[in-house]
Amino acid sequence: MKLEIADLNGTLVPANGSVKQAPAPARPLHGLAVVGMGYWGPNWIRNFCSLRCARRLVACDLSAERLEHVKNLYPGVEVTQKFEDVLHDSNIDGVVIATPVSTHYQLARRCLQADKAVVVEKPLAMSRAEAADLVRLARLRDRVLMAGHTFEYSAPVLKLHELISAGEIGEVLYISSVRANLGLFQQDVNVVWDLATHDISIILMLLGQMPEAVSCQGQSHYRREIEDVALITLYLPRNVIAFVHVSWLDPNKIRRTTIVGSRRMLVYDDTALQEKVRIYDRSVSVQPYYDNYGEFQYAYRYGDIHIPRIEEIEPIKRECEHFVDCIRHNHTPVTDGLNGLRVVAVLEAAQQSLRSGGVAVALGEDR
Ligand SMILES: NC(=O)c1ccc[n+]([C@@H]2O[C@H](COP(=O)([O-])OP(=O)(O)OC[C@H]3O[C@@H](n4cnc5c(N)ncnc54)[C@H](O)[C@@H]3O)[C@@H](O)[C@H]2O)c1
Repeated sequence: MKLEIADLNGTLVPANGSVKQAPAPARPLHGLAVVGMGYWGPNWIRNFCSLRCARRLVACDLSAERLEHVKNLYPGVEVTQKFEDVLHDSNIDGVVIATPVSTHYQLARRCLQADKAVVVEKPLAMSRAEAADLVRLARLRDRVLMAGHTFEYSAPVLKLHELISAGEIGEVLYISSVRANLGLFQQDVNVVWDLATHDISIILMLLGQMPEAVSCQGQSHYRREIEDVALITLYLPRNVIAFVHVSWLDPNKIRRTTIVGSRRMLVYDDTALQEKVRIYDRSVSVQPYYDNYGEFQYAYRYGDIHIPRIEEIEPIKRECEHFVDCIRHNHTPVTDGLNGLRVVAVLEAAQQSLRSGGVAVALGEDR
């Protein structure tokens, strides 16, 4: 099955929770495995343990030390250093891939070939071709393929989506997103593939559209060709523009997205302990100026700032529940393989632009 660019540009997946699917009898869930027990993987184990959703839980890592650490924290979890053990275990229904990005494609592919449902941490793969291959294979084997786009499950991002879809801010004019801190440097991918994946998945979800073109500039200061700072521009339909600034070289941790609409503006600060989303009742309007100059007059409206109440749940907990639900009911995840492929397509275009000195790369091109 060929995956056309139309698939990438079509209506994007709606916000988490808004997908209605026909009820199917629940399948029993025997076991789940999480591969990769480094920094992020144990979060999946912790949440699966607290949800008590599977009879067996297996942690897999090449490192015996990491497995011992997990075993100490969660004595009921089985551990193995061999990925093959997970593949050949007929009682493992679903697998989480939380290993370095360069390993995602091969590990996920082998899981699907072994008829396991799989959720792959972000980004889904390291190229559009690899991501498209996973989507094809999941369809062929009729298995769940989910992209670990955590922020699409987070309450503040779902609130932003709700506000934008309800027309609360008018037409979106532009988005500016900053994700910066000191480290963590990755070995196999640059800061674009590491951090900007989050911003791109959030922007595609909020706008429900693919960019027409992408440009990216960046610089590597410590390791050749592993850029540690970058600025990405997404050119979206109807003159909407989005800027994403990502950095591993910043003294402060910044996680801020500003969405400017024609009627109101939103600021989402993920580092805030509470009140992460603020709605600024501010806008600009342009009226004809009636004196001899024939210029325009700008009217600035400074209204109130509203803080919506948001009930926060750990996003990865929602992801765990959703993955389990999709396996049991054979549902398509809201962040399915196609969603993962779209984000990878934007990342790949950004990477191509980066290597070409920042020229805009069209998304529709057959590259
Ligand atoms: N969703 C999020 O918010 C979020 C946050 C951080 C990291 N991540 C993602 O999680 C993944 C892991 O990141 P990390 O920071 O935990 O990396 P890490 O380097 O800390 O850990 C990776 C682990 O995978 C193990 N591993 C590597 N190859 C393996 C294999 N073939 N079989 C079994 N184990 C293997 C390593 O031994 C290591 O313990 C990455 O894809 C990253 O992008 C997601």
